[in-house]
Amino acid sequence: MCGIVGYIGYRNAYDVIIKGLQRLEYRGYDSAGVVLFDGTQMQLCKTKGKVSDLQAKAAKEMNAVGTIGMGHTRWATHGVPNDVNSHPHYSNSGELAIIHNGIIENYEPLKKELINRGYVFKSDTDTEVLVNLIEDIQKTNQLKLGKAVQIALNQVVGAYAICVFDVKKPNEIIVARLGSPLAIGIGENEYFIASDASPFIEYTNNAIYLEDEEMAIVRLNKSMKIRKIKDDSLVVPYVQELQLNLEQIEKGGYDHFMLKEIHEQPAVIKDTYRGRLLSDKGIIKMAGVEDNLDKFTNAKRIVIVACGTSWHAGLVGEYLIEEFARIPVEVEYASEFRYRNPIINKDDVVIAISQSGETADTLAAIKLAKEKGAFVFGVCNVVGSSISRETHAGAYTHAGPEIGVASTKAFTTQITVLALIAFRLAKVKGTISQSDYLRNLLEMELIPSKIEEALKVDGHVIDIAAIYKDAPNCLYLGRGFNYPVAMEGALKLKEISYIHAEGYPAAEMKHGPIALIDEHMPVVVIAPKQNHYDKVVSNIQEIKARSGKIIAVVTKGDEQVRALADHVIEIPETTEALTPLLSTIPLQLLSYHIAVMRECNVDQPRNLAKSVTVE
Ligand code: F6R
Repeated sequence: MCGIVGYIGYRNAYDVIIKGLQRLEYRGYDSAGVVLFDGTQMQLCKTKGKVSDLQAKAAKEMNAVGTIGMGHTRWATHGVPNDVNSHPHYSNSGELAIIHNGIIENYEPLKKELINRGYVFKSDTDTEVLVNLIEDIQKTNQLKLGKAVQIALNQVVGAYAICVFDVKKPNEIIVARLGSPLAIGIGENEYFIASDASPFIEYTNNAIYLEDEEMAIVRLNKSMKIRKIKDDSLVVPYVQELQLNLEQIEKGGYDHFMLKEIHEQPAVIKDTYRGRLLSDKGIIKMAGVEDNLDKFTNAKRIVIVACGTSWHAGLVGEYLIEEFARIPVEVEYASEFRYRNPIINKDDVVIAISQSGETADTLAAIKLAKEKGAFVFGVCNVVGSSISRETHAGAYTHAGPEIGVASTKAFTTQITVLALIAFRLAKVKGTISQSDYLRNLLEMELIPSKIEEALKVDGHVIDIAAIYKDAPNCLYLGRGFNYPVAMEGALKLKEISYIHAEGYPAAEMKHGPIALIDEHMPVVVIAPKQNHYDKVVSNIQEIKARSGKIIAVVTKGDEQVRALADHVIEIPETTEALTPLLSTIPLQLLSYHIAVMRECNVDQPRNLAKSVTVE
């Protein structure tokens, strides 16, 4: 997790790095640091807290000059968040500085060995071990820094994206990656290094994304050479033209990225199906699916692997694919799948869902499924991410950068992709009637405008949020396609407002959670007028009989639930299969407003990070 930024060129490195770290704070924000070379020596400033705390400290302690430097925003793995454990770390001689995103798993034996050789450690981090290992190799063998880094990386087990700077070679930064992303922005007489392209988007559109097990020496006035860490072979660099623009990574007048991203959903869902859905012609075409149609249609089983919100989208995917394409689907937490020796056969299709495309557990699950011979299809948002590269084929969600840590537009665009897959497979297999097929396709095209309408409940949701903002617990219930939405609603509330919340299939309530219901318990019930409507109404009656406070999400015009519930939030009508795309909207807004009223840090909730690149 953690974000890294490096700069070498002619600008003030501090300004570039600080702005870059602010854009990468979604990756971790428990401490931050920067090191600059001022022409004669390195200057270091680091602190527990956010980049704004670093700025305040640097203003007092640091002369922010120099045109080369590196910065880091941290999500702690080894060692508590404090000033000492923050990055950058120096080697014992003080000549090398490092920033690192990832985990060195075998740091303990390496550290013991280095202690035996006289090294002293200030921090509890695995990163300080790595920089001293590099120094030890460099000094013992009289090697250039690049070579020493390469030898050291061949000794470590784990994941890393690193930048290493040597005060004796002040015109170069050594970078390397394995399992953590690293992009190099190429400008005129300047280079930018970062965990993603957002820190350098206003300076250059040209970037190289290092592949796993590659390293480079980024040096001014020299062409960049990329090498394989294992065998030193040269790699031909592939310079990509970035599609990202500055507007996409700024708040655009909203108070928080989360709110901006909630409101972006109508537009990004259009982007998701643009060119793929021709509803008037009854056509769905997705290259990744079309090219592998036989694999999908012959699959005995589809296994969906994902984590968190993406796992919830996977559950909706299960309902969609089983309902329409009649292929058995299992949905697994990637973290369980990778360690439980799952039975995967060659004719299984594995769908991996991930917004970031960097989630370590999902990546490991993909590798395992591939080893077992399965065809692996990715549903990712971040173009060029590790998961999109590791899968055999896939479909991007095209949601644009999601910066708020709580996932919103990623969820609905993932569901959109899964629905397109389900309808396409159903059509090929003949398991959907033509009228159902066309109705769903036409409805899909109406979803953006219906989300616009659903967003209009904002003012009403604010009133409801004000009533329940201090509730210690909250229950979310839904059935069928809306059961995963209930779980997602609960996850949104707990992660950004720190209110304990549970999502359940509504009928499961009577098997335990009903014991929690009293006059203090808010229960959010998703009750659109569809298949299970009468059953959900009965569940609402059961809550009411126990004095629970009912917040119901209903289809526009519903009177029956209105007569029972304490509050109703209306959503437009659509097909049952597509309801999750609408019912999730008021739940996102509810959690957002409650978190704001509780003065929580909406975009950067405690203990979390956007991209979970550790196990
Ligand atoms: C919750 C959230 C997380 C992610 C999970 C998987 O709002 O964002 O639960 O969904 O960490 O991340 P990706 O989708 O990037 O693999």
